[in-house]
Amino acid sequence: MLIFLQFLHVFSQEITWTNYSFAFPQFIPLIAEKTVFSRTFEEFGQILNISIEYNGEFDEPICNFDYQYMLFQRQPDTLIALVTDLQQIDIDSLKTEEIQQGFSDELISFATIDRNLILLEKNGTIHHLYYNDGPALTNYTVYQLSINQGVNEYAQILSDTQSFYYVDSDQFVKFNINNGSLEEIKIHSWNKVNDHFKIFVRQEYVYLINGISGMSIYKMQNNILLLVNKFMIQDIYQSPGFTNLNLIDYSIDKEFLYLLDHENGVKRFNLTSMHIDKNFFISQKGCKVISVQNNQIILIQQNQLFSEIYEGRIFNDSWVLIRKKTATKQIYRNIKQFDNYTLLISNPTNNMYQKNLIENFSDPYLYNGDNFYQMEFLGLIEMDTDFVVGIYKYGVAIYYVQEKSAQISCQARLSQQNRVTIRLNSTNCLNKNQSDIFNYCQCRLDYVFDVHGVLMSPYQENLYIYFCVVAFAIVVALFVAIFLIIRRYQLKKEKIDHIRKSRRTLSY
Ligand SMILES: *[C@@H]1O[C@H](CO)[C@@H](O)[C@H](O)[C@H]1NC(C)=O
Ligand SMILES: *[C@@H]1O[C@H](CO)[C@@H](O)[C@H](O)[C@H]1NC(C)=O
Ligand SMILES: *[C@@H]1O[C@H](CO)[C@@H](O)[C@H](O)[C@H]1NC(C)=O
Ligand SMILES: *[C@@H]1O[C@H](CO)[C@@H](O)[C@H](O)[C@H]1NC(C)=O
Ligand SMILES: *[C@@H]1O[C@H](CO)[C@@H](O)[C@H](O)[C@H]1NC(C)=O
Ligand SMILES: *[C@@H]1O[C@H](CO)[C@@H](O)[C@H](O)[C@H]1NC(C)=O
Ligand SMILES: *[C@@H]1O[C@H](CO)[C@@H](O)[C@H](O)[C@H]1NC(C)=O
Repeated sequence: MLIFLQFLHVFSQEITWTNYSFAFPQFIPLIAEKTVFSRTFEEFGQILNISIEYNGEFDEPICNFDYQYMLFQRQPDTLIALVTDLQQIDIDSLKTEEIQQGFSDELISFATIDRNLILLEKNGTIHHLYYNDGPALTNYTVYQLSINQGVNEYAQILSDTQSFYYVDSDQFVKFNINNGSLEEIKIHSWNKVNDHFKIFVRQEYVYLINGISGMSIYKMQNNILLLVNKFMIQDIYQSPGFTNLNLIDYSIDKEFLYLLDHENGVKRFNLTSMHIDKNFFISQKGCKVISVQNNQIILIQQNQLFSEIYEGRIFNDSWVLIRKKTATKQIYRNIKQFDNYTLLISNPTNNMYQKNLIENFSDPYLYNGDNFYQMEFLGLIEMDTDFVVGIYKYGVAIYYVQEKSAQISCQARLSQQNRVTIRLNSTNCLNKNQSDIFNYCQCRLDYVFDVHGVLMSPYQENLYIYFCVVAFAIVVALFVAIFLIIRRYQLKKEKIDHIRKSRRTLSY
């Protein structure tokens, strides 16, 4: 009986986590699991700073807190080298033009349609891979574009929903890959482009973003490019005071095309109405790289000795600067934004930058981000919710990405009552002020950690349960044994009685 009661006691023992809310009126469901309590902070967004106070019989720290983080892991065996390194080749076996081209060839551009990944090698070779769940890159094939080999300045590939395109300053080729063969169509109306340029195709329109020449829009009709509109400095700014223009990079977010002008800052273009947004302007000179996603904007300025990373939020007709970070001289080539993190691609050191941190609110520990070394990334493409493909100069690899929420876990070892007060600054909360665009919150959560009875660690608890089960089994076995012995005795007794009885009847 005593053992049975102990058994029940172990199962019923629980910690009561009570939530007394002050600043935070909503009740938060808690997971109370024996001696361990843990919860994640998804509904608070990013935790910027936290303090934990104990107020009870014992004020030893019983809680552990981990800030949110970004998991970025290369999947084993997914690194595929596509370009052979010519550096290993004997120099005497190379032709003069190959030596002129440089010793090592490399990938210079990439594009996707659905799960088809196309990579362009400097010498005009096209690599095709198909992304399969698994994750894996399969059906690898190589093609040669019939382009004029030569200088191929600013060579790049792009795609719309139907076709891929190869473009350099002299040539424009549309191509598709069907059943293992490359079909290509030359676009003859392409005029030679001077100066650096970036280009993309969207709904049959070709947007050419071309340094000091501004932006030109062409309509692609029957494989002919027809100039629809051209935006020069006066069309872009529509106001005096701007004397120089140099469109250097762009980014598309929702219906807007953000144009980065190295000389002045950022202007935007409404892709639906095909008009420059007259009022919008971010005055930030000298930037080279732009990325906008969900109104979160990153600009990178390259100086002689250092780089500045500006993080802001698009707001009304401009932006609100959130943070400026200075990094020692590094050339940032590309930016890949995730929800709360940004990968700043700077070879060979990449930095996982955490967004939304306002210095006044945040733990300085979070500012720097994680640096990691990789081969030279050209960029990253999201393939599904869990995986991205990283494109290197010499090949591709698949990465697992996940944004992990902040988490707290507490464990009590003694019978105690402890009040735990958690104060936190976060990017979100249930009672946030909707009219404040940053929605930063300061919250206070109070938990009463009420532990009754003798506590055991989960391991000890399991051991104890085993012990109880074994003890219970032994008791049951004993009962059965005793019962069997008594029964056997009874049977024997009956048998003897029976014999005695029959003897008695015989003697009469
Ligand atoms: C939250 O931010 C406020 C305002 O800057 C600061 O005074 C406070 O210390 C922060 N609280 C925590 C827990 O970080
Ligand atoms: C380009 O380089 C690859 C090796 O990386 C080679 O297989 C291919 O034949 C080259 N193509 C041309 C046109 O030179
Ligand atoms: C990949 O190759 C396999 C075998 O050759 C073929 O069955 C499959 O249809 C191909 N997948 C794609 C997407 O081309
Ligand atoms: C962009 O243009 C479309 C079509 O004219 C218009 O409906 C939309 O409001 C414009 N967007 C902004 C933010 O002006
Ligand atoms: C908080 O930030 C603002 C600018 O965003 C700055 O002017 C102010 O000095 C900061 N306050 C503290 C206490 O750091
Ligand atoms: C973060 O929280 C700690 C502990 O409460 C506090 O000392 C520090 O000032 C806070 N930092 C900021 C930037 O608010
Ligand atoms: C919400 O934020 C706005 C802008 O920061 C401020 O003007 C307003 O007073 C705030 N409202 C409340 C209820 O705190």
